[in-house]
Amino acid sequence: MKQIIVGNWKMNGLSADADALVDGLAAQLAALSPRADVVVCPPFTQLARLAPKLKQAGIKLGAQDCHKDKSGAHTGDISAPMLVDLGVEYVILGHSERRAEHHELDETVREKTVAAMAAGLTPIVCVGENDDQRSAGDSQATVGWQIEGSLPQGFRGIVAYEPIWAIGTGQAASQQDIADMAAFIRAELVRQFGDAGKTMQILYGGSVNERNVTDILPVEHVDGALVGNASLKADAFVPLVRAARAS
Ligand code: PGA
Repeated sequence: MKQIIVGNWKMNGLSADADALVDGLAAQLAALSPRADVVVCPPFTQLARLAPKLKQAGIKLGAQDCHKDKSGAHTGDISAPMLVDLGVEYVILGHSERRAEHHELDETVREKTVAAMAAGLTPIVCVGENDDQRSAGDSQATVGWQIEGSLPQGFRGIVAYEPIWAIGTGQAASQQDIADMAAFIRAELVRQFGDAGKTMQILYGGSVNERNVTDILPVEHVDGALVGNASLKADAFVPLVRAARAS
């Protein structure tokens, strides 16, 4: 399966930085062919400006959240059809930072996932245990519950395993931990969704960088990476794309 490398810019990028980053990505990626799918998820404020540039560079556009409703009295929120209107194709949902800072529950994430699918977006649903859950030996149980609670019936999309203890630390999970969890997630997806679960893409996220990516991407059931810090510089992001399987 073709792998996918997704950049999650989080709350970073004023217009000048965003332009420079996309110009750098476009120039460097033009030299790579064939390559994996590449998605970048800038903050909402940059989506409309960057959409044409990214399209020209063959880079897909993603967002970092959406509301569960199509429209209405939700001050400050952005709906899935609004994202589609701007040319967005993917949306990250249930990132641990949103679960923590915006009190998003599995149920919230599930409702947003339904809305994203209905609008024609590909949801990238994040799951992952925290340090305490890991120390207690509850990593798989936690992720199992999150998958069951966050993915709706008829789910079609991508699942990103992002252990919270690895995000932004510079220290990714070990190859063995990733292999064990990816196999567990695959089994859960097949249990819940039958044959469709066999081909759903599973990503690893959490301190992926140029040094560890060659250990991570070859792991069975890992179909790509969700990348934070290393997506903010073209020189750090492009080597990840280069390391990905193109078929
Ligand atoms: P990181 O972030 O690569 O900076 O650890 C990953 C993420 O939170 O998606």
